[in-house]
Amino acid sequence: MVKIAPSILSADFARLGEELRAIDDAGCDYIHVDVMDGHFVPNLTFGPPVISKLRPHTKKPFDVHLMIDPAQPFLEEYANAGADIITVHAEADKHLDRSLQVIRGLGKKAGVSLNPATPEGVLQYVMDKVDLILVMSVNPGFGGQSFIPEQLDKIRNIRKMIGDRSIELEVDGGVNVETIKEVVAAGADVLVAGSAVFKGDDYAATIGALRAAI
Ligand code: DX5
Ligand code: ZN
Repeated sequence: MVKIAPSILSADFARLGEELRAIDDAGCDYIHVDVMDGHFVPNLTFGPPVISKLRPHTKKPFDVHLMIDPAQPFLEEYANAGADIITVHAEADKHLDRSLQVIRGLGKKAGVSLNPATPEGVLQYVMDKVDLILVMSVNPGFGGQSFIPEQLDKIRNIRKMIGDRSIELEVDGGVNVETIKEVVAAGADVLVAGSAVFKGDDYAATIGALRAAI
């Protein structure tokens, strides 16, 4: 069963609580929370105080995508703010293995994200320490960019690497009704959709259309 994770990066930031309740009612599986630091990526969003204020608005899991460098000193704060899955970037972390252990030690699911130019080999020696792998199919920083088709090969390769482990394979960037089918066929089972979900008014219809397009 494929999961849909709307990214609140494309939501109305002045009404985030309301937007969260709306995508929850619309049948999303995860809430994808994009944290940007203006250093690892050329954009800035929000941090733990905003996430903890959002937490009471939904019971759906918070899938927190940390586009911050360094991430390790802040992991506990994101856990306390209400993250369920904490994903760090392989490129941002000098000690990826340690960060993954810290996240699991905080009782949260540990994710690793790879930028489009990062090869999947970086995952080889941490496969038994991750719960989720997040393939960036755009260069992180902004919503509304076009899917980079070369990432389909990477998704297929990672699906093989996962084998029978219970690791989720999430894809983020440029996922919409046109691209979702190929992404799922390549092996993804969690799909982030930011602009595709929030551009219209009827979130349930859009999430339904994404599922139908698979
Ligand atoms: C990009 C973010 C994505 C973004 C996706 O840096 O990590 O989660 O919101 O937006 P769309 O779905 O519009 O490509
Ligand atoms: Zn993201």
